[in-house]
Amino acid sequence: MSKKLRIAVVPGDGIGKEVIAGALAVMTACGLESKIEFTHFDWSADRYLKDGITLPGYADGSGFRKLESDFDAIFVGAFGDPRVASNIHAKEILLGMRFKMDLYANVRPVKLLDESLCPLKGVNPQDVDFTVFRENTEGLYCDVGGTFKQGSPDEVALQEDVNTRKGVERIIRYALDYARKHGKKKVLMTDKSNVMTYAHGLWQRTFKELSAEYSDIQTSHMYVDALCMQMVRDPRQFEVIVTNNMFGDIITDLGAALQGGLGMAASGNIHPGKTSMFEPVHGSAPPLAGKNVANPIGAILTAAMMLDHLGVAAEAQRIEASVLKAVQQKKTTADVGGSLGTRECAEWIAQQVAE
Ligand SMILES: NC(=O)c1ccc[n+]([C@@H]2O[C@H](COP(=O)([O-])OP(=O)(O)OC[C@H]3O[C@@H](n4cnc5c(N)ncnc54)[C@H](O)[C@@H]3O)[C@@H](O)[C@H]2O)c1
Repeated sequence: MSKKLRIAVVPGDGIGKEVIAGALAVMTACGLESKIEFTHFDWSADRYLKDGITLPGYADGSGFRKLESDFDAIFVGAFGDPRVASNIHAKEILLGMRFKMDLYANVRPVKLLDESLCPLKGVNPQDVDFTVFRENTEGLYCDVGGTFKQGSPDEVALQEDVNTRKGVERIIRYALDYARKHGKKKVLMTDKSNVMTYAHGLWQRTFKELSAEYSDIQTSHMYVDALCMQMVRDPRQFEVIVTNNMFGDIITDLGAALQGGLGMAASGNIHPGKTSMFEPVHGSAPPLAGKNVANPIGAILTAAMMLDHLGVAAEAQRIEASVLKAVQQKKTTADVGGSLGTRECAEWIAQQVAE
């Protein structure tokens, strides 16, 4: 018998706990016990408030090395709790995984499953179907900066935008390779190089150089402000979008809105060949937590994405097909037009998967 795949499960805070429970129920319904072993971790605001630990082995990096050596993938909910104003646990656990495990490709599919979910008029599922590749380890989220004369009228605040040739090149190459592998013809790079001439000049030059290597792919560029307008005006034109950390963060919330809201959006934090992490795009949504109202579909589609990444493709497809049925038959939570609770929606999808 082949070795079981090992998945670390970190539900985190708020609705993270509820949507991950739903996604696990769906994966279990696939009959994956013989193929996958799930190990649960309680890293969260609750744990941090109890014993001050965010992720054991954070400081010396041993916790991340253990995740890499002991697991094939990490399945994460969301982090953020009003009781932890500093958000230190989210920073150390979530950004810790992304940065310290060098998960440089944040892959976020934007796919409309049913016309009724899109806030735009006359837009069908075939019109919204693209993937955003967000650089995940550099840019403005590197925590490089500082303040000077804080609290005084002369206060200065600096936050550096860190872009390396290696970092920019590998995410652009990843997006171009993905396009090639998936039969996509168009890759668009978005930046703000008209004003951020140094940082985004590097993106421009790198994209141009790599484009020459991929003559089978039609490459193009848009400034990020124009892209936001075009995503609303005509989302049909996009197949693959590649961008930096902050712009990727922002445009994928807009992308999520095109799909029916944050509750529908999935993502993977990937380093090819290494232990990667998968999480729904949404946060912990404290006002919804504990009420059985959060949409579990983003987490369920994230589970499918993770299974596909691990080579468990048939089960991933079964999950996606069952989610599509749930959306079409309105067996969903209220945010996407149904009347089910989080648990009931996940159970309905699990039942379809099992049939
Ligand atoms: N990856 C992450 O862990 C992550 C991402 C974003 C925000 N956060 C954290 O989450 C907390 C709340 O942040 P926020 O309110 O800006 O973002 P959020 O994603 O938690 O919620 C934004 C909005 O989307 C709705 N929403 C989100 N997920 C939903 C779901 N599954 N079903 C139905 N509706 C859903 C919420 O009701 C809210 O109106 C903060 O502490 C923030 O730092 C964490």
